[in-house]
Amino acid sequence: MPASPFIIVAIDGGAASGKSTSARILSERFNLLHVDTGSFYRAVTADLLRRGVAPADLPAVKTALASLKLGTRLNGRSAQMEVDGRVLEEEIRSRAVNENVSHFAAIPELRTALLAYQRGLADVARDHHFRGLVMEGRDIGSVIFPNADFRFFLQADPAERARRRASEGQQDSIAERDRLDSSRKTSPLTCPPGATSLDTTHLTLDQVVERLAGPIAARLAAA
Ligand code: CDP
Repeated sequence: MPASPFIIVAIDGGAASGKSTSARILSERFNLLHVDTGSFYRAVTADLLRRGVAPADLPAVKTALASLKLGTRLNGRSAQMEVDGRVLEEEIRSRAVNENVSHFAAIPELRTALLAYQRGLADVARDHHFRGLVMEGRDIGSVIFPNADFRFFLQADPAERARRRASEGQQDSIAERDRLDSSRKTSPLTCPPGATSLDTTHLTLDQVVERLAGPIAARLAAA
């Protein structure tokens, strides 16, 4: 019997659109490595802020990026980014990071610095015998893996997303981040042509997961 195919699932969408929770469930259901690229942008932001680098200071950002040492640690089915050998935990959800991350993420040099790292996680998944990879972010189906087997784009009403984020006990500037993420020149947040768009405003988590899992299960059953 041929080995089952390695599959790449890309999930993009705005802040609190339901990406992380559904990606985590899909990773369990199909034995996929789960990659939350937002946590990478947050970790780099936390590191740069700690070094006193402001997003508006491009020369300082470039100097800091040149000495950035990135690694990967597996935590169950999730890939965590190490910066200088350390996984940054709570601080990546801090108010300072929430307020600055979209400014750093708009810098083309910073996105380029993370591009090969993100693509390389497919090899990490293969090396660790996962059946594939589910990667979530803003530009996964458009830039990182434009040929992914499945590309989903999650949307939800802004008021509903603000409610979800508040119910997680977090103070977050999601409307402002969405505005910055959608309007930047490099890799803006947008549903790429050919991706499957899903409005989750009136769907339960189970319903969202079923919509995403259906086509994946069908493909794997046919393989
Ligand atoms: O969890 P939430 O959806 O609020 O945000 P996140 O996924 O943790 O991403 C935080 C920020 O990182 C976003 O607002 C973007 O500015 C940036 N980001 C990005 O530019 N590209 C990605 N692939 C992922 C995140």
